[in-house]
Amino acid sequence: MRKTYNIAIDGPAGAGKSTIAKKVAKELGFVYVDTGAMYRAMALYFIRKGIPAEDEGAISAACREISIKITYENGEQQVLLNGENVSGLIRAEEVGNMASATSGYPRVRETLLELQRELAGNSDVIMDGRDIGTCVLPEADCKIYLTASTHVRAVRRYKELEEKGVICRLEDIENDIAERDKRDMSREIAPLKQAEDAVYVDASAMDISQVVARIIEIAREKGLEV
Ligand code: DC
Repeated sequence: MRKTYNIAIDGPAGAGKSTIAKKVAKELGFVYVDTGAMYRAMALYFIRKGIPAEDEGAISAACREISIKITYENGEQQVLLNGENVSGLIRAEEVGNMASATSGYPRVRETLLELQRELAGNSDVIMDGRDIGTCVLPEADCKIYLTASTHVRAVRRYKELEEKGVICRLEDIENDIAERDKRDMSREIAPLKQAEDAVYVDASAMDISQVVARIIEIAREKGLEV
């Protein structure tokens, strides 16, 4: 069996990683793996249990009660939390903030690492997250660090929420994003940072199709033969 080809995409919240990675996966016939969704599913469990994010002991103990599984329905990743499909419940801001706050704990990361590596070993994948190129798949064939300015990311998020009818202030979203970046980048374990061999892509002034094309171009430069 030939070795699988792995593309790792890391970057801050709101840079467009999942939108881009989904499209790249579709064009290349790869499986898209959204690791943030796994941290979010764990966060949902902690929220339901009423465990505060600061209580590392209780969070670590709760990890033993959690089983995360990934399945695909019509090509869309589904996350199962102890057998329950929670994909529709994990996109709330509250869940994202809890995921950001608890993903710095070693037990939380250990719970997911093996599953992430297993998925990459089984198929050609494009996997997005914060530490894919640096920790999860250090041998990935192609590594991308995808980012955009805080302002551009905040405006995108604002528009998304506006479309959903959620009333919010751009300034609050911008502050929220800056805070999340700081937390994701400054934690001790597996912080968000560009891997030495990752290609830096600043999408602030690019549209989706340009970023998709650029990533496929980089993958080809890195030996992808399709
Ligand atoms: O990409 P996202 O917004 O769905 O991720 C939610 C949180 O999960 C993010 O703030 C940090 C954490 N996360 C992580 O620590 N490592 C990853 N590989 C993916 C996400």
